[in-house]
Amino acid sequence: MWILGIDTSCDDTGVGLVRDGVVVVNLVAGQVALHQVFGGVVPELASREHLKALPILVKEALAQAGIAPKDLSLIAATRGPGLIGALLVGYTFAKGFAWALGRPFYAIHHLEAHIAAAWPEGLDPPFLALVASGGHTHLFEVQALGRYRLLGATRDDAAGEAFDKVARLLGLGFPGGPEIECLAQEAKEKVPFPVPLREQKGYDFSFSGLKTKAVQLVEAGYPAPALAKGFQEAAVEHLAQVVLRAAKDTGHRVLLVAGGVAANRALQARFQEAGLTVHFPPKGLSQDNGAMVALAAWRRHQAGFSPSPLSLGATAYWPLEEA
Ligand SMILES: Nc1ncnc2c1ncn2[C@@H]1O[C@H](COP(=O)(O)OP(=O)(O)OP(=O)(O)O)[C@@H](O)[C@H]1O
Ligand SMILES: [Mg+2]
Repeated sequence: MWILGIDTSCDDTGVGLVRDGVVVVNLVAGQVALHQVFGGVVPELASREHLKALPILVKEALAQAGIAPKDLSLIAATRGPGLIGALLVGYTFAKGFAWALGRPFYAIHHLEAHIAAAWPEGLDPPFLALVASGGHTHLFEVQALGRYRLLGATRDDAAGEAFDKVARLLGLGFPGGPEIECLAQEAKEKVPFPVPLREQKGYDFSFSGLKTKAVQLVEAGYPAPALAKGFQEAAVEHLAQVVLRAAKDTGHRVLLVAGGVAANRALQARFQEAGLTVHFPPKGLSQDNGAMVALAAWRRHQAGFSPSPLSLGATAYWPLEEA
């Protein structure tokens, strides 16, 4: 069974093809150069770029898989959350494609898709899922597919956003996560950063203090590699401390770490030594992509969820607990 998955929630055009739960093609067209001069994603430009890239990527994905549109059994797209104009491009395209082919359509929550990317075949809930990306740092208890309890979230910046902002401060490129990771690896020494919210009883995250600390240390003239290493260690340690406390309190021993930040090797190492069973997305599936949307649709189909009505619109705001 072939599933086409599309994600246009922000500035990446993602098109993926999944066959019986296995990713066969995963194409992502980024827009970094387009937005770079503005210092952030310009929503209207992102939408227009999706419009140009999407039909080309869908054609290319089908060609790479060696299949025709009629071979698709199911079409899925991200319904939200995200930039509404950007979402609308992929979501409306997918609905139109499904209608034209006479195939069922699944409206997918972007965070469920991130979680699906890290969710190994055969693992049954309940478990914990940390989504750490450019727009989210959310810790969920996954009770079942489609049943999520939010345990904690960031009070200010998302983890990936903090990596991006500190990278910019250090004069590095975008996205900042991989740049900081690279620079930290080269560092011979580190400037220690305080780990945020050490004393809290709950499961909140906060990254704005680390950002302020980075500004102060840059002004004080500390070298960038030592700063990158110190920042990365504190950010990773903060994520680990909150998640491990939640694991201890709830008794869960299995954890999924998803979203763009899950690609960070220092983070992977820290969680792997934590004594939990931890799953990360395979390479290429942690950042926004279309295959993760198809994987979520495959899970929904397997679990017997009904397809979504084509009358359902995209939405910028959509808590995962309501998906
Ligand atoms: N190796 C890495 N270390 C740390 N952060 C990373 C790494 N690789 C990518 N990131 C971060 O991941 C983020 C992008 O992830 P993703 O594409 O999942 O997020 P998004 O789509 O921007 O946000 P959301 O999924 O919340 O809507 C960026 O902030 C980027 O810096
Ligand atoms: Mg994302």
